[in-house]
Amino acid sequence: MTGTVPPDEALAAIAAVLDPPLTIVTAAADGQRAGCLVGFHSQSSIVPGRYSVWLSKANHTYQVAVLSSHLAIHFLTAADMELAERFGTLTGDRADKFAGLAVTAGPGGVPLLDQCASWLAVRRTAILDDGGDHACLAAEPVAASWAEDFRPLLTSDAAHLEPGHDSAERPGVGGAGRTRAGG
Ligand SMILES: Cc1cc2nc3c(=O)[nH]c(=O)nc-3n(C[C@H](O)[C@H](O)[C@H](O)COP(=O)(O)O)c2cc1C
Repeated sequence: MTGTVPPDEALAAIAAVLDPPLTIVTAAADGQRAGCLVGFHSQSSIVPGRYSVWLSKANHTYQVAVLSSHLAIHFLTAADMELAERFGTLTGDRADKFAGLAVTAGPGGVPLLDQCASWLAVRRTAILDDGGDHACLAAEPVAASWAEDFRPLLTSDAAHLEPGHDSAERPGVGGAGRTRAGG
C-alpha cells in the first residue's frame, strides 16, 4: 500500500505491521474479578510514569475496570498462549476465567496472576471515552515485577483467537455474542 489511501485502511495496515505484545489486564470491584487479553496498551508518560490501556466498552472487564481503583497489566510470554486463549476468547459475562488459576491480591485488591512473572500494578488516574469502541484508562504504576529473560507473546501469535466479545457490542444491546472482532 503506497500513496494516499482511505485512513481506516491505512490504520489497519499500520496496526498489522506494528504487532504489539499481548497483555492481560485484570481488575476487581464490588466482589467481582475480571480480566481480558489486551493488545492496546502503552507507556504514556515518563515523568511522572504513566501507563495506559484501551478497553473495549463491550467487555465485562471494562464494566469492572471503571469501578475499580487499580488495574494489573500482565505482560505475556511465548509460553502463555493458553492463558491468552482463556482471557481473550471467554467472557466474564458467562465464565469464571480465574477458576483453577493461582491468584494473589495486589494493590487495591487487583488480581495478580501468579503464572505471570512480569506485571505492572497501576492506580487509575483518568478515563477517556471519545466515542470510539474502546476507552482509554490512564494510570500510574504503583508496583511491578519483571523477569529478565522476558520474550513477549505478540498479537500475530494470537491471530487465530476469536475474541469473547465483538467490539461493536454494547452491554444490554444484543447480549454477549461471540462474533469475529478485533480488540
Ligand atoms: C489478539 C487479541 C487482542 C485483543 N485486544 C484487546 C484490547 O486491546 N482491548 C480490549 O478491551 N479487548 C481486546 N481483545 C478482546 C478481549 O480480550 C475479548 O473480547 C475477551 O473475551 C473479553 O472478555 P471479558 O468480556 O471477560 O472482558 C483482544 C482479543 C484478542 C484475541
